[in-house]
Amino acid sequence: MAGNITFTMIKPDAVESNNIGNITQMISDAGFKIKAMKLTQLTRNQAEEFYAVHNERPFYGELVEYMTSGPIVAAVLEKDNAVIEFRNLIGSTDPNEAEEGTIRKKYAESKGRNAVHGSDSDENAQIEANFHFSENDFV
Ligand code: CMP
Repeated sequence: MAGNITFTMIKPDAVESNNIGNITQMISDAGFKIKAMKLTQLTRNQAEEFYAVHNERPFYGELVEYMTSGPIVAAVLEKDNAVIEFRNLIGSTDPNEAEEGTIRKKYAESKGRNAVHGSDSDENAQIEANFHFSENDFV
């Protein structure tokens, strides 16, 4: 059975452009329950570890710079089929390819500065949620 938890970050570009409220509203309107949420800023070590799977990619350095450049909102979201449902809500990595009505279509600036993160599997959702929150942060 598909898991019911996913992990998201509202990234520095979307926090900087004052879209925390708009994006959180879209998440709630789509039927996700917020289980944990915090405004925080990633250290370089945290960003390097979080994105370690991309460390051979040409954009890795730029990605770490960007993700540590300002505050983010980290959150754990609950819904049936959360990972797939949330990826549908955020749209493609590149906002130029994202469907109308998706979060990235509305708020992302570019493929790199793309407003939100969404976990890509149930396994990674658990790993990423545990990376940012401890069990007693969940409500
Ligand atoms: P996300 O899917 O949240 O996690 C990996 C991130 O790497 C992705 O969002 C983008 O922000 C970034 N990324 C992926 N591809 C590129 C690219 N070609 N150039 C710059 N950044 C990228």
